[in-house]
Amino acid sequence: MKTIKAQPTVFIIYGATGDLCWRKLVPALYNLYLDDWMPEKFAVIGTGRTAFTNEAFRLKLLDGVNQFSRSGKAADDKWADFSSHIFYDSADLNDHETYSGFCNHIAELEKEWNAKAYVIHYLAVAPSLFPVIASNIAKNKLAEQREHTRIVIEKPFGHDLESAKALNQLLNENYKEEQIYRIDHYLGKETVQNILAFRFANAILEPLWNRNYIQHVQISVTEQLGVESRGGYYESSGAMRDMIQNHILQLLCLVAMEPPNNFNAAEVHSRKVDVLHAMRRFSSDEIRKAVVRGQYGKGWIEGKEVSGYREEKGVNPQSNTETFAAIKFFIDNWRWQGVPFYVRTGKRLHQSASIISIQFKDQPHFVFPPEAIDSWQQNRLIISIQPEMSIRLQVQGKRPGLDMLLNTVDMIFDYKTTYSSYTPEAYETLLLDTMQGDQTLFMRGDQVEAAWELLMPIISTWENKPSVNFPNYSADSWGPELAEALIAADGFHWISLPVNGKK
Ligand code: BG6
Repeated sequence: MKTIKAQPTVFIIYGATGDLCWRKLVPALYNLYLDDWMPEKFAVIGTGRTAFTNEAFRLKLLDGVNQFSRSGKAADDKWADFSSHIFYDSADLNDHETYSGFCNHIAELEKEWNAKAYVIHYLAVAPSLFPVIASNIAKNKLAEQREHTRIVIEKPFGHDLESAKALNQLLNENYKEEQIYRIDHYLGKETVQNILAFRFANAILEPLWNRNYIQHVQISVTEQLGVESRGGYYESSGAMRDMIQNHILQLLCLVAMEPPNNFNAAEVHSRKVDVLHAMRRFSSDEIRKAVVRGQYGKGWIEGKEVSGYREEKGVNPQSNTETFAAIKFFIDNWRWQGVPFYVRTGKRLHQSASIISIQFKDQPHFVFPPEAIDSWQQNRLIISIQPEMSIRLQVQGKRPGLDMLLNTVDMIFDYKTTYSSYTPEAYETLLLDTMQGDQTLFMRGDQVEAAWELLMPIISTWENKPSVNFPNYSADSWGPELAEALIAADGFHWISLPVNGKK
């Protein structure tokens, strides 16, 4: 629970000249400052190889805040005060002196504040640098004060099961699990946190939330954007590593987990990892039947011609990397036996939207005559994460009129009309949790490994057997036809909601 302000805190952001710091981290810290969540005594030390003066660094960050902060352009007086807490130390992260430099800087701040600082090392760097920075922090005695030191690791956490295990091992040798914050920014999204509230604060749902009433579940995270300037990164990642291993499996765990005994981090983590352990493993035959991959070709999006993936900057013209994946999962436990969980994600699709749809089973008997029913639809609960933030329950109702005519209507809980308060960005929530030492919305080491373990057979099969059909979907479509066939074979179809009035 966030009710008290954090203690004096020093953030060291590694990779501070990169996009994440500029677009997300500093705008989030600035909004926390505006909303009075930042401790009175805090400092942000950005570090990277490029040389910057404090002033030049602050100016760059101001530009980011002006462009990306949810609260709009920064007011001069507020920015002047906030930015006086920001410093830049240019550094070679392989060099031990860099870290003694940080020690000195922290010691100076503590002296000035007359207080012990909590130090948060935020690794916003390429994954290849995680091991060297994490071990150098520890070797240079920056992590000795265990109660006061935390390390935040951005995704991707590992490239496969083996590298994730190696990274966990390295971290565990130098840090306690309570010090390690593995970020998945989806968990900080307001609507994603609300899945927990919705499921576990409402008694009416639990009796229905199982194989007796639920026919199938869909999780769909579709994006209109292509890989933009991230072709180099994406080539070694693909949709499976970029979205499914983390964001989508996290969403699935929130939908499928058993009720935790309480809202403590360890308890929530354990219930989520139980789901991953219960997920059915894929044999090569099942990979063929239950998994679809795709790669986008060129096309038109909103009147603009866009390149195919293989033409993007930094991408191999013969690339075998998937920009789309759809999978049918099963969870082998008492609650979910036999209920398919369909997930799909992809770039350059028709819509940018993230929704979870829970479709309930048919009613056992039709009371109304066939003439009463235009097109029958099972009850659905649709949790819309973005861009619309809503939960809608689709039910059948009687149309007004003298006839008995039924149609589907939505009972909607819409954030926009329900709340007038602002919605914090995911990074605001997660950075504040890091300062307050709350790991509930972060991933534990075993969870990350369990997610890799589940997906490795698919990843290896795809790597060993390049697709002969890529590109197999065009920009502005809903992905490869086979993804439609995957769900249609079971008698269902992918659900989407209109985005900005457009379906
Ligand atoms: C990131 C992925 O983790 O999530 C990106 O690396 C993706 O490829 C992004 O576009 C989606 O996040 P959001 O918050 O825009 O849905």
